[in-house]
Amino acid sequence: MISIVPKPRLCKYADGVGWGVADSVRIDGSEQLEASTLKNLEDFLRLIDIPQRSNSAFTVAFEKDEKIQGDAYKMTIRNNVIGILSGTDKGFFYAIQTVKQLLAQRREQPSAVIEDSPRYAFRGLMLDVGRYYFAVDDIKEIMNWAALHKMNVFHLHLTEDQGWRIQIDKYPLLTQKGAYRSHTNFNSTPHGGFYTKEQIRELVEYAAQLKLELVPEIDLPGHSVAAIACYPYLSCFDRELDVATHWGVKHDIMCAGKESTYQFIFDVLTEVFELFPSQYIHLGGDEAVKTRWELCPHCKAEMARSGLKNTNELQAHFMNRLTDFCRRHGKTVINWNEHTVSGMLDRSIISHFWTDSDTDALMAEVNDDRKLLVSSNKLCYHDFPYGMTSLKDSYTSPVPPGLTKSDNIIGVEAVLWTEFIPNLKTAKKMAFPRLASTADAAWSGGELMNYDELLARLSDYQAFMQLYGVKPTPKRKYNPCKLRAFFSRLWFERRQLTWEGLHIILDNKHVAKKYARQ
Ligand code: ACM
Ligand code: ZN
Repeated sequence: MISIVPKPRLCKYADGVGWGVADSVRIDGSEQLEASTLKNLEDFLRLIDIPQRSNSAFTVAFEKDEKIQGDAYKMTIRNNVIGILSGTDKGFFYAIQTVKQLLAQRREQPSAVIEDSPRYAFRGLMLDVGRYYFAVDDIKEIMNWAALHKMNVFHLHLTEDQGWRIQIDKYPLLTQKGAYRSHTNFNSTPHGGFYTKEQIRELVEYAAQLKLELVPEIDLPGHSVAAIACYPYLSCFDRELDVATHWGVKHDIMCAGKESTYQFIFDVLTEVFELFPSQYIHLGGDEAVKTRWELCPHCKAEMARSGLKNTNELQAHFMNRLTDFCRRHGKTVINWNEHTVSGMLDRSIISHFWTDSDTDALMAEVNDDRKLLVSSNKLCYHDFPYGMTSLKDSYTSPVPPGLTKSDNIIGVEAVLWTEFIPNLKTAKKMAFPRLASTADAAWSGGELMNYDELLARLSDYQAFMQLYGVKPTPKRKYNPCKLRAFFSRLWFERRQLTWEGLHIILDNKHVAKKYARQ
């Protein structure tokens, strides 16, 4: 059987010799490939120690077929030849990702024809570099994972309460001060780092070679304490804060009533757009608690001026204004999904589905014309302990309950939040093997998902990822028993039980008392 992750769309077996155990290969038609695509294959051959020989009995042959467009390819495995047809370099690139897994298995492969193309146009992997800074080389390694899984978007969550990670020339404090925190939760070790413009360009270029569109996220108006720590005027009440040191949702968010906030964001986005060629910009929108907006004279004045009934409408108003700006720069905005509750959010914004609370209004919009990007907790949150989302639970359809117009789903994205992922080693344990679930959902689609079949492919997949230094979570841990599941959930939720949690309650009382009469 052909054992590939993500699962190919169609695989027809034939009689006769397929592919033997190759000790060398010949590459035919390499002139069809862009240099970086050929390099991607050649680097792999070196990694698994299969030399190229012009007289090899095993051939990988590329041939142009203009009828096969987009990300699609056709592969025929017969008589020790893997013949690949595609009309595009992307198609060849994805075929190469399939070839890599076949070669790595170092066993005979049956004669077969694979006709493969993705279910979704947007197949992403997100890395949160705000909670923990990841070095450029680590990001490149994670980008490689995305490409190996035939993903085509890499989403960098660049700003957080706990750190601002991208150089912005007009606002130098963002990286001089906002990129560093004094400690993290209960330890006393400072943490920080940021990406210079040069490094961002390097990442954009690296991503492009892997056929990845690098999508930046500037999270607004919430999750922005690091920016407020640098420029207090961005908040309601000009609060003097430190870059956050604890996880959890913060109440100090950007003020939606001051013109200076909008100017800051437009300036930042202008520099971001100069760096990232992506058609998309992710503007966050999640977990924006409105306690300050309810009290703030600027926010209240803006609501009165614009005839807004409540702060949810103010959030839509804020985001719609940013969206107009982005539209003028040719960008499409993506937003985390709870943001649609007001019903006023610009319909061009792609809703990034992560939480299933309060989604009736969202699903009604998507059943109409809003586009949806799916990162539902179970399928896509690979930072959750396996006790919260086992491999089996993660293997779930990308189509959310209540959605009937599934054509409005543009894609699926795996996310790696990093509250509990301080380094690459932990990222590997958490992402693997669950990244296989998201990859199957994004490339193959829910209709083709079958958990027992995934299990049959899993040992090849695990062995393949070990070539890239990935030591996945072992079998006994990725579908834990109920007791282990209970304790791992408790461990994860301990973030709620911090001094910081209590501090937020007291701080809210203090703010309410101080500003209630304004
Ligand atoms: C999120 O998990 N706050 C999008
Ligand atoms: Zn305000």
